[in-house]
Amino acid sequence: MDINLVTSNLGKVEELTHILEPFGHKASQLQVDCPEIQASTLEEVVDFGLDWLSAKKIQTPFIIDDAGIFIEVLQNFPGVYSRYVYDTIGLQGVLKQMEGLEDKSTKFKCVLGLMLEDGSKHKFVGECKGNLISEIRGTGGFGYDPIFIPDGYERTFSELSPEEKNSISHRGRAMEKLVNFLSSMEN
Ligand code: IMP
Repeated sequence: MDINLVTSNLGKVEELTHILEPFGHKASQLQVDCPEIQASTLEEVVDFGLDWLSAKKIQTPFIIDDAGIFIEVLQNFPGVYSRYVYDTIGLQGVLKQMEGLEDKSTKFKCVLGLMLEDGSKHKFVGECKGNLISEIRGTGGFGYDPIFIPDGYERTFSELSPEEKNSISHRGRAMEKLVNFLSSMEN
């Protein structure tokens, strides 16, 4: 299937493409200036995005991706505000907020929205639990990857290979559900 990835984030494009291609899907990036709504959940953001893009008659099928990092001791902040926090105080600012806090439990969550040619909308959710660290480590990935160590690992997302990150990440898990769904439709 030819699928449009509606995002301006190249890191996401790479990760999504890596997963889609082995299943015979051809992914192409599509950059559309979609307004970001203020909402309390990633699911609401994705619902809005799917409706907005469909009203703009964006070529289907397409996928959108909204993700965030949820820090337990900060009552799951920044969550839906992850991009704003990253763009304002940055990783150093987040590390500063975490200084002196022992509990660094954190999870990433990704919600994928899929719009098919028949106008049906589908959402797929993936999570990855782990811990923040107190320094920036690694060069791979993007966003918060250099300060997050997934459970069961000693390396940050940034220090993992793209394949390793995809095999356990929030996005990888959501994508696994999405490709299984596409496969089930073909049968
Ligand atoms: P958005 O999904 O593009 O709105 O992402 C919100 C924020 O989370 C941005 O600052 C992204 O860089 C960051 N982010 C999204 N996905 C990931 C990821 O897989 N690893 C690290 N940071 C991410």
